[in-house]
Amino acid sequence: MAVTILAIESSCDDTSVAVIRDGYVLSNLIANQDIHMLYGGVVPELASRAHQVNIVPVTHQALIKAGINAEDIDAVAFTRGPGLLGSLLVGTSFAKGFALSQDIPLIEVNHLQAHVLAHFILDKDKKNRLPSFPFLCLLVSGGHTRIIIMKSQLEMEVIGNTIDDAAGEAFDKCGKVMGFTYPAGPLIDKLALEGNINAFRFSKPRIKDLDFSFSGLKTSFLYFLRDRLKEDPDFIENNKADLCASLQHTIISILIDKVVKASLLTGISEIGIAGGVSANSGLRNEMQREAEKRNWNLYIPELRFTTDNAAMIGITGYYKYLRGEFSGHDITPLARY
Ligand code: KG4
Ligand code: ZN
Repeated sequence: MAVTILAIESSCDDTSVAVIRDGYVLSNLIANQDIHMLYGGVVPELASRAHQVNIVPVTHQALIKAGINAEDIDAVAFTRGPGLLGSLLVGTSFAKGFALSQDIPLIEVNHLQAHVLAHFILDKDKKNRLPSFPFLCLLVSGGHTRIIIMKSQLEMEVIGNTIDDAAGEAFDKCGKVMGFTYPAGPLIDKLALEGNINAFRFSKPRIKDLDFSFSGLKTSFLYFLRDRLKEDPDFIENNKADLCASLQHTIISILIDKVVKASLLTGISEIGIAGGVSANSGLRNEMQREAEKRNWNLYIPELRFTTDNAAMIGITGYYKYLRGEFSGHDITPLARY
């Protein structure tokens, strides 16, 4: 019997709903919230209100696109955390209501675990190769930067973590200094394509083991611009592409140095990247180059499964369904998970 999961993602500023059947995506819709661009970052109260407006129509459309009725759903998976509490509350409450109305199980999903499990989403047309275990994954998002060993779909060990900012924050905060709207990562990626990675040098942190730090880079980028702007008020405008290319190159090399170290330490050569920053074209290309050099089997998720999406919640829900890991209706969201 086929297993059909309705998945709800509402941890930050995207309302996403997906339908997953036996690991294949039948639909995966995302309603973005452009309102936050005006404020230079996500405003929690506005995000929560927008989720309330979006969640019913997005679910309705996801069911139509999947070509199924509510009665065809076997379980509802939802993001329990980590994320913004007000946003999570909307998805959690909606998931509970839907599960109750259909008398089907509820499955809580950890958003970070789901980013990594995006690698296991099946594609009918592409017959994609799945990672085998142990699988070493660099998880880089707006709030987290981690190196994870996956021992099975649902067993993960964190072996590296950021001690301050996440890689996505480094993109977003440095972008803000250059006057870019939030989130700045995609624009930096685009502008970097036209720039010289060696135009400017920013120092890399010396952090022991497999941990990361990005707050020093952010500060040195800020001071560097402050000094240059004193000499030339148009310095940013005149050097935008080179600034983006050099900054992006520094972030990527900080990330890749640690993945190489982790692979050498653990002996694992099944390697992947996941999370919003894994959409970065420079990171994807550099990882590819490193994989060829080091004989890694490299896994890079499709772009639409890198940034926040409900399909990744659905695939995680699917594996939990197979193991019978269901949640009670007294479950509450967790901002920190
Ligand atoms: O995974 P995600 O969608 O949300 C979180 O769980 O945080 O990640 C969002 C982060 C933001 O910091 C955004 O700037 C970054 O991913 N991002 C990128 C790119 N696309 C999204 N960073 C660099 N290059 C990109 N192409
Ligand atoms: Zn995310």
